[in-house]
Amino acid sequence: MTDALIAAAIAARENALAPYSKFKVGAALEDSEGRIHTGCNVENATYGLTVCAERVAVLKAVSEGVRSFRRVAVVADTEALTPPCGACRQFLWEFCGDIEIVFANPRGQSETWRLKDLFPKPFDVSYL
Ligand code: THU
Repeated sequence: MTDALIAAAIAARENALAPYSKFKVGAALEDSEGRIHTGCNVENATYGLTVCAERVAVLKAVSEGVRSFRRVAVVADTEALTPPCGACRQFLWEFCGDIEIVFANPRGQSETWRLKDLFPKPFDVSYL
């Protein structure tokens, strides 16, 4: 199953719109029923309005009514496997909680983390 999730992220990465950074990222988010929701980074000429692949995947799924997730795979073509940025860690925590995160590259390397280990003291609804 991890292989299928990584393959979906590799395919999603092909759609990355990254004319400024040239850094293409794909994400694949598995929901609690096993369905896969994908995303890629979409850049903007203002730079700051760029949206990362992970947030695109989450927003696509949430906007379709999905509320429960198991795992996410993030793929970039780097030797040191690319982790989610800080904004995406906060975003993933909000919608997915302590899910499993697989970082991978298209050359067959991967490593698996829990979000809690990447983002140990999140701000969330429990503080409101
Ligand atoms: N990017 C992602 O899509 N996800 C990450 O986890 C790291 C960074 C994108 C944002 C921008 O389009 C490009 O990679 C370079 O930062």
